[in-house]
Amino acid sequence: MTGKVRSLGSLRNRLALTLIGGAAVLAVLLYFVVRSYAVQIAQQGQDSILRASVTSILDAAVLRDGQLEVDFPYASLAMLGTDSDDRVFYAIYQDDVLVSGYDGLPVAASDSGMVTVTFDGVEVRTTTASRLLAGAQSRTRVTVTVAQTQDLLAVTLSAISRNIALFGAGFFVLVMLLAVLATSSAIGPLARLTTSVARRGPQDLRPVVSPVPSEMVPLVSSLNTLMARLGQSLNRSEDFIAEAAHRVRTPLATVRSHAETTLQRVDREENRQALRSMIRAIDESSRAAGQLLDHAMITFRADHLDQQDIPLAALVENLIMRLGPVADMRDVEFRTALDPDVTLKGDPILLHNALRNVVDNALKYAPRESVIEIDITANPPCVVIRDHGPGFPVDQISNLSDRFTRGRNAEGIIGSGLGLTIAQEVATAHGGQMTLGTHSKGGACVTFSF
Ligand SMILES: Nc1ncnc2c1ncn2[C@@H]1O[C@H](COP(=O)(O)OP(=O)(O)OP(=O)(O)O)[C@@H](O)[C@H]1O
Ligand SMILES: [Mg+2]
Repeated sequence: MTGKVRSLGSLRNRLALTLIGGAAVLAVLLYFVVRSYAVQIAQQGQDSILRASVTSILDAAVLRDGQLEVDFPYASLAMLGTDSDDRVFYAIYQDDVLVSGYDGLPVAASDSGMVTVTFDGVEVRTTTASRLLAGAQSRTRVTVTVAQTQDLLAVTLSAISRNIALFGAGFFVLVMLLAVLATSSAIGPLARLTTSVARRGPQDLRPVVSPVPSEMVPLVSSLNTLMARLGQSLNRSEDFIAEAAHRVRTPLATVRSHAETTLQRVDREENRQALRSMIRAIDESSRAAGQLLDHAMITFRADHLDQQDIPLAALVENLIMRLGPVADMRDVEFRTALDPDVTLKGDPILLHNALRNVVDNALKYAPRESVIEIDITANPPCVVIRDHGPGFPVDQISNLSDRFTRGRNAEGIIGSGLGLTIAQEVATAHGGQMTLGTHSKGGACVTFSF
């Protein structure tokens, strides 16, 4: 039973979204921080020129014979010239009376530093400074205000903003690429572990030994412990079945021989009939116990597969020799076409058992006095066993290799439904497969390809 695993969403997407979301926030933050810093620097540049301009005008103011004279230093306004033709305004006041310059130019308190105000419908940056001039008889206060529009600043700022936006976008794209790379490399070991576990055969309970990142070590250790426990419990149950089958078979053989002896002594037909049924039931049980024993042995040996070079032709000839007496009893003839050079790496006991089960079926289900053909071909190594019986029941063919599954043609024939299961498991353990089919002349055809 496999429970459906609920998904909490993709770890890769979550990681990538966190990184990309973080990068987006950083890029926006970077844009505003750098932009405000750039505004400050650009503003400071304009402010210091404005301040120098005001100071140089103030310095040019003198009191001569009680009269204020300003030898206007034109350089003080020229220094404010910009590529954007920013307009410059000034106003000179003597004791709050406008002496020269623009009337109405807002005068900031002289200690308020730089301020931005609206004059003549535009925003201007302005600063004001004043000085006390002392003559022989009089004292007067001269105040100078200089203001400048901010066109160049706006142009500079929009250029800076464009560049920072481009830089931010580039940074964001770069982080996005890095996020994809980082998530792939972080998730990579997990994906590799999943593939390596998913690719395993159902019997493969070996521990995972390939190195994994330290965060995954507890998970892999738990997985390995679980597989070890599973392996142990499987082995225990296989051992138990083998032991139980063995213990059942021995007394059954004894009971059977007693029943046979009794059958020879009994004359009444109804007693003879009862004894025959008994012998048949014993045969069924004995066959089932034998097949269970074989299956347990197969499962165990498949887990620790031998790697001998097996000449397949010799293996088949040996099998035919052993099954000779049964074949003779049914007047069945073996016809073989065996390529002597075909070898296979594996466990000869398992392969012998698999082929024996299939040939045994051919002997059981095909009619007397028929022919069983066995071919061995190379590239890839294949063993094909054909008989001339009724063939597999077509609608059941896909299930006949399942445990304890028998076809409807098996009625009245002793068997336990494990023969094809064993053959199939042996083929899989050797990296091959077993295919059931019907050959052109109608009989069953079993192909092992490795
Ligand atoms: N050569 C064959 N011709 C026709 N039917 C076959 C053939 N071989 C197998 N079958 C069908 O496939 C079924 C499963 O075969 P399998 O060998 O697994 O079990 P079994 O022969 O019934 O029992 P046992 O475990 O004793 O071999 C059989 O019951 C039979 O219906
Ligand atoms: Mg069988």
